[in-house]
Amino acid sequence: MSEPRKLYVRSFGCQMNVYDAQRMTDTLAQEGYVETDSPDDADLVILNTCHIREKAGEKVYSELGRLRKAQEEAGRRQMVAVAGCVAQAEGAEILKRARSVDLVVGPQSYHKLPELIAAAERRGGNRPAGIVETEFPVEDKFDFLPPPTRAAIARRGPTAFVTVQEGCDKFCTFCVVPYTRGAEVSRPLPKILDEVSRLADGGVREVTLIGQNVNAYHGLDAAGRTANLTELVRAIAEVPGIARVRYTTSHPRDMDDELIAAHREIPALMPYLHLPVQSGSNRILAAMNRRHDRELFLDIVARVRAARPDIAFSSDFIVGFPGESDADFADTMELVEKVGFASSFSFKYSSRPGTPAAGMGEQVPEAVKSERIHALQALLDRQKAAFDAACRGRRFDILIEKPGRFPGQLIGRSPYLQSVVVEGPQEAIGTLAEVEVREVSTKSLSGDIRGGEFFMRNPARESRFIGQSEKLEA
Ligand code: 5AD
Ligand code: SF4
Repeated sequence: MSEPRKLYVRSFGCQMNVYDAQRMTDTLAQEGYVETDSPDDADLVILNTCHIREKAGEKVYSELGRLRKAQEEAGRRQMVAVAGCVAQAEGAEILKRARSVDLVVGPQSYHKLPELIAAAERRGGNRPAGIVETEFPVEDKFDFLPPPTRAAIARRGPTAFVTVQEGCDKFCTFCVVPYTRGAEVSRPLPKILDEVSRLADGGVREVTLIGQNVNAYHGLDAAGRTANLTELVRAIAEVPGIARVRYTTSHPRDMDDELIAAHREIPALMPYLHLPVQSGSNRILAAMNRRHDRELFLDIVARVRAARPDIAFSSDFIVGFPGESDADFADTMELVEKVGFASSFSFKYSSRPGTPAAGMGEQVPEAVKSERIHALQALLDRQKAAFDAACRGRRFDILIEKPGRFPGQLIGRSPYLQSVVVEGPQEAIGTLAEVEVREVSTKSLSGDIRGGEFFMRNPARESRFIGQSEKLEA
C-alpha cells in the first residue's frame, strides 16, 4: 500500500478559519490525506488566510516565501494552496506575487477542494498556471462538506466551534468582511443540531456558535419557520452531553430582548459576551456606519448585566479611524472606564483597499495611532488584571480540556475563557470540575478541585484528588 499523503493546514485570523480548517481536513481525510503538524513533510500545504488588517494579509506572503525556500533547499515539490479571505480578496493576484502557489480557493468553495486539487495535480508543476476558485457558488458548501469522524472529534478535544452564520450585511466602512465572506447566510437549524449531536456523541461538551454577525442568525427550523439565535441556543443547550454554549461575534444592533433574556434563562449559556463596540465616540461610530451609538451600547451592557449579574464583557476597539480626534479618543477611553471589560482586542485602524474608509480624508498619522493604542491597551490590561484578581477565592466550573505542562496537571477553562491549571487525573479531561481559584497570574489562574462530574462518578477517587494541590503544598 502506498504511504498516505500528508496535509498541513495553517490558519491565520479568526475562529471561523479554525473551524474551516477542520472542515477542509475532514474533506481531505476522505481523499486519504492525514494531518501532519510540520509543513516540511507535508505533500499538501494549505494556508488559511486572514485579510482583516494589512499585517494579517501580508503574513501569507512571508509564509509562502518561507515555504518556497524550504522546498528549494530540500529539493522537493509540495502542492501549496491559499485559502481563506486573502484568497477571496486577491484571487489571481496571489499567483502573480507568489509563483509557488498551485491553488487559490475562496471560503465558499471548500467543498470543491478534492476536484480542485486533482485539477492542480493534473497540471503537474506547470507553474505559474495555478487554479483560482473564488466564486460564490449557488450550492451551500455545508451540504457537501463531510462531517468529522469520531476519532477526529476526540482528537480535537471537548470544545468545538460550529459555524451557524456566515457573511455580513452591515458594511462597517472599515471592514472587508462583507466582501470576503459575502452576504449574510444562516445555516438551517436542524443541520446545526445534527452537527452538534454528532460532536456531543464524540465527547464535545462545549460549543461556540460562530458567525461574523452571529446574533443576526435567522435559519429555517424543521417546520420551515425562521428561528433566531435564542431558539438555536435553546435547542443546542438541550442536546445530551452539551454543558456549555457560547456565541460570537455579535453586533450590538442585533442584541434583542429575547437574546438578553436568554442569558438569564439558559444556564448552559456562559456568562461571557464578546460585543465589539469599536469606538466610544458617536461621531466616529457614525463615520464607521456602525448603526448604533454609545448610548445604545451602554444600554445593552446594562440590560445584559441586569439579566445575568455575573456576566463579563469583552470587546473589539479600533483606534485612529479617519478623522478620530483627541476628543473622540477620550470618548472611547471613557466608555471603557464605564463598562469595565474582562478582556479585549484593540487594533490600530488599517486602511483596506475597496472599503469606504480607505478613501476618507483625514487619515490619522501612525504616531498618533501608536500613542492611542498604548493608552487604550494599558487601560484594558488593567481592567483584565482587576477582573482576574477578583476571581481569587471564587469557585466556578472549569471544563477540563487537556493535560498541563507537568505530570498530574490539567488545564481547563473558566466560564470567562480564562485558562485554569489544576491537579487531577487524566480521566477528568472532558468533565466539568468545581474549582476554587487560588492563584492568579497574567496568563492563567490556578486552583483546587473541590468537586465535579468526574468525582461524582468516581466517589472512591474523591479523597485522593480533591484539594490535593493544597496537601502537596503543605
Ligand atoms: N482596521 C483595524 N481593525 C479592524 N477590524 C476590522 N477591520 C479593521 C480595520 N480595517 C477589527 C474590528 C473587528 C475585528 C475583528 O477586527 O475591531 O471587530
Ligand atoms: Fe465587519 Fe462590521 Fe460586519 Fe463586523 S459588523 S464583520 S466589523 S462589517
